[in-house]
Amino acid sequence: MAGYAIHSSIKRYCIDGVAGYPSVFSVLLCVLRVNDYVAKLNSMNKNSKIYIAGHRGMVGSAIQRKLEKEGYTNFVQATSTELDLRSQAETEAFFHKEKPDYVFVAAAKVGGIVANNTYRAEFLYDNLMIEANVIHAAWKHNVEKLMFLGSSCIYPKLAPQPLKEEYLLTGLLEPTNEPYAIAKIAGIKLCDAYRAQYGCNFVSVMPTNLYGPNDNYHPQNSHVLPAMIRRFHEARQEGLHSVTIWGTGTPLREFLHTDDLADACFYLMQHYNEPGFVNIGTGVDLSILELAQLVAKIVGYEGAILTDPSKPDGTPRKLMDVSKLNAMGWKAKIGLEEGIRSVYSLKFKV
Ligand SMILES: NC(=O)c1ccc[n+]([C@@H]2O[C@H](COP(=O)([O-])OP(=O)(O)OC[C@H]3O[C@@H](n4cnc5c(N)ncnc54)[C@H](OP(=O)(O)O)[C@@H]3O)[C@@H](O)[C@H]2O)c1
Repeated sequence: MAGYAIHSSIKRYCIDGVAGYPSVFSVLLCVLRVNDYVAKLNSMNKNSKIYIAGHRGMVGSAIQRKLEKEGYTNFVQATSTELDLRSQAETEAFFHKEKPDYVFVAAAKVGGIVANNTYRAEFLYDNLMIEANVIHAAWKHNVEKLMFLGSSCIYPKLAPQPLKEEYLLTGLLEPTNEPYAIAKIAGIKLCDAYRAQYGCNFVSVMPTNLYGPNDNYHPQNSHVLPAMIRRFHEARQEGLHSVTIWGTGTPLREFLHTDDLADACFYLMQHYNEPGFVNIGTGVDLSILELAQLVAKIVGYEGAILTDPSKPDGTPRKLMDVSKLNAMGWKAKIGLEEGIRSVYSLKFKV
C-alpha cells in the first residue's frame, strides 16, 4: 500500500514521454520533481507546530528569531519552571497535550570549564535526562522531525585538526568536560537509534563556540568571548593601563554568531535527513591574543594587553571541519568583527 501510494505520488510529479517512453528531458524533470516532492515531505511549512526546547537560551532564542523572520508563527513554548525536561512524566504530558510537528532540542545544562568540572553529576544527569525524555516523547507522539544540538566538546581531546565528523569516538575526551560530552554523544546516538529502529527523522548538529544576543556575561562563569568583551569594556571605563589575559594567548579558537547558527539549523531542518551529525562552524580560527586585540579595538580600549603564561592554555587548537556542511550548500556569513560589534552595542548600549 505504502509503496503504491509513493509510486502514484511520484507519477503525479512526472510527465510522460512519447509513446510510453520517457524522453531525457522528461526523466530529468521527473528526477527534479521527485527531489522537490521528497524535500517538501521533509520541510516545515508555515502552519507546522514548532517546539524549541530552551527557547529563552542563547541558541533557542536565535532559532526562534530566525523562524519568526521566515514567517513561522505556530510555536509551543514552555520555560524550565513550567516544564522540567528532566522529568519524564512532565515531558510526556507536554508532548501528549501539544503534539508538536517539529522539535529543536536547544535545552541543556550549559556552562564553562569550572561549572562543567564542579557539577559533574548534574552535567551528566540533567543533559541525559533532558535529551532522552524529549527524544523518546518525540518518537511516541510522531514528531515529523527533530534536531538535536550538541557541541564541539564531543570530540576526543587529541583529535587531529580541523575536527572532522568521523573523529567521534576515536579517542579519550577532555577530562574536565567529559560528563557533558558523554551526554551529548548519547544524544547523537539516541537520534540514530530511533532513526534505525523506528524510522524517525531525528538529526544532530554540532556547533562550534558560539556568541550572540542573550549570551552570558557573568564575570566568573562566562565563555571566553563575552568574558573578554566585558573585561575590556570595564577596563576602558576604569582607565586601566593594561589587561592581562589567561595563558600564552597562542591557542586557536573559532567563533560563530548565533544568527548564523540559527540560519544553518533552519537550512538543515529543510535539507539534512541523515544519521550521524554535521559540524556547524565558520572553518576559520584566530589566536586568543588576536581575539583580545580585536575586542580591544571594537571596545575602544587603548591600553596594553598582557599574557599570563602561568595560567593554563587548554587545547592548542579547536577548529571544526565544515566541508560536509559547505558541500550541503551552507556557509557562515557574519564576519567575526561585524558580529562582535553587534553584540557589544546590544549588550552595552554603545
Ligand atoms: N553556548 C555555546 O557556545 C554553545 C556552543 C555549542 C553548542 N551549544 C549548545 O546549544 C544548546 C543551548 O545552549 P545555550 O548556549 O543556548 O544555553 P543557555 O543559554 O544556557 O540556554 C539553555 C536553555 O535550556 C533550558 N533548560 C535548561 N535546563 C532545563 C530543564 N531542566 N528543563 C527545561 N529547559 C531547560 C533553559 O530554559 P529556561 O531559560 O526556561 O530556564 C535555557 O533556555 C546546548 O545544547 C549547547 O550544548 C552551545
